[in-house]
Amino acid sequence: MPVYSVSHVENVRICVIMVGLPARGKSLIAQKIVRYLLWLSIKAKCFNVGSYRRQLAGDTAITAEFFNPDNRDGWSVRVEAVNRATEDMMRWFAEENGVVGIIDATNLTKQRRSDLLKLCRENLIEPIFLESWCDDQDLILQNIADVKTTSPDYVDVDPAVATDDFLSRISQYERNYQTLNVADDEDLTFIKLVNVGSQIIVNRIESYLESRIVYYVMNLHIKPRSIWLLRHGESEYNLTGQIGGDSNLSERGWRYAKKLPEIVLKSLGEEHEHTNLTVWTSTLKRTQQTASFLPYQKKLEWKALDELDAGECDGMTYEEIEQQFPEDFKARDDNKYEYRYRGGESYRDIVIRLEPIIMELERQENILIITHQAVLRCLYAYFMNVPQEESPWMSIPLHTLIKLEPRAYLTLVSRIKADIPAVSTYKEKGTSQLGELASEVSNSRDLILNSLQASV
Ligand SMILES: *[C@@H]1O[C@H](CO)[C@@H](O)[C@H](O)[C@H]1NC(C)=O
Ligand SMILES: *[C@@H]1O[C@H](CO)[C@@H](O)[C@H](O)[C@H]1NC(C)=O
Ligand SMILES: *[C@@H]1O[C@H](CO)[C@@H](O)[C@H](O)[C@H]1NC(C)=O
Ligand SMILES: *[C@@H]1O[C@H](CO)[C@@H](O)[C@H](O)[C@H]1NC(C)=O
Repeated sequence: MPVYSVSHVENVRICVIMVGLPARGKSLIAQKIVRYLLWLSIKAKCFNVGSYRRQLAGDTAITAEFFNPDNRDGWSVRVEAVNRATEDMMRWFAEENGVVGIIDATNLTKQRRSDLLKLCRENLIEPIFLESWCDDQDLILQNIADVKTTSPDYVDVDPAVATDDFLSRISQYERNYQTLNVADDEDLTFIKLVNVGSQIIVNRIESYLESRIVYYVMNLHIKPRSIWLLRHGESEYNLTGQIGGDSNLSERGWRYAKKLPEIVLKSLGEEHEHTNLTVWTSTLKRTQQTASFLPYQKKLEWKALDELDAGECDGMTYEEIEQQFPEDFKARDDNKYEYRYRGGESYRDIVIRLEPIIMELERQENILIITHQAVLRCLYAYFMNVPQEESPWMSIPLHTLIKLEPRAYLTLVSRIKADIPAVSTYKEKGTSQLGELASEVSNSRDLILNSLQASV
């Protein structure tokens, strides 16, 4: 089975070194890059210096005074934290074949930066600096609000006290902060994001993989928005249990399509009822028919959103596949992510064709996507960080909308069931029968929030 991985093509290793004052969204950007690369099967990991610092300092309450440059104890703990994070990263590159490691730290002055640079170059790792620079006070305060509600440093601390403490912590760092600039750092590979994407400075990007990372961070924005993911209404093929094809909606599928505008409106809530959504569908009839009653002007068809191509099995039922291609049937159950239908596609193939969709999706605001079971599983896996061995088995029922609300440090998920029955198209492992055992279906992912820690 061919394994797609950019690194195998290029044999590169990259160390992304985050630069920026606290509350500039560095951890968020770092975590998103990791999630995106893992989704593409590129081995990536973030080394968060803040959590090393917390381990070293133990339970002692950390206040802004700790970050005073004249406080020797605080200073040596923080140096040690950076050292340990760096050592762990180097070990990960060497022993676990890491491809993209990210050092998420706050106080990287020129001296520290050049130490890291030297270490990377000696070990044939491409260093790339990623600075988030921000002087927009509203953005900073918004970020502080997110950090103080999620940072382990401020558990049980009064929010007003936490904000004050955090602001003075930032001013401790500001005393020594050195931004990246083209005049002094022209030899370095770096990306500088100014006020979250309102301006981007890119210097000396060399490899293909670096340029993917640049392109990805260029598309990020932090405006609040919702994403609705749904499958087409029940199709005629679903009634007969056939897969693939380009059939029409069933009678119940049409009922769902007619009810959809009302469900979406309700889910938007009163204050947003005039919000215009962008609607994306695949090129197949069943998704377009499902979208046909939605009142929004902006509708776009994407070939990349078409259902997994079942090749020679297109139009067959799972029972027929089990009888005619028993080996394939078993091979697919054994490794559903990698299994490629004869003349068709695997889940891995879908992820590759969905990459441009993810890039565009990051740029969008409110958007509703009507697509197919396998494609939806892959999109959902991206947003919720679902591992590859689980994603092809996730339950995504018909006539159910999934609403995602990405927040700074977590993604809220809700499922909205339309009250219109549909057949189940869920196939358990090891059987050709359709239908789900309610208790075993793994919706558990919904409960997992993508929470993460700030690095300061
Ligand atoms: C940042 O690092 C510099 C030297 O690398 C040090 O002098 C300064 O005290 C540090 N600042 C903070 C807030 O840790
Ligand atoms: C539902 O029907 C469509 C064809 O209309 C098919 O592509 C899809 O695979 C079906 N779902 C399942 C899992 O049977
Ligand atoms: C789908 O519906 C259209 C009319 O809405 C009809 O002309 C066509 O024959 C139908 N296709 C199938 C495969 O039933
Ligand atoms: C949504 O689009 C409609 C028609 O294109 C327009 O009249 C309306 O003002 C738009 N609403 C918003 C909130 O932009």
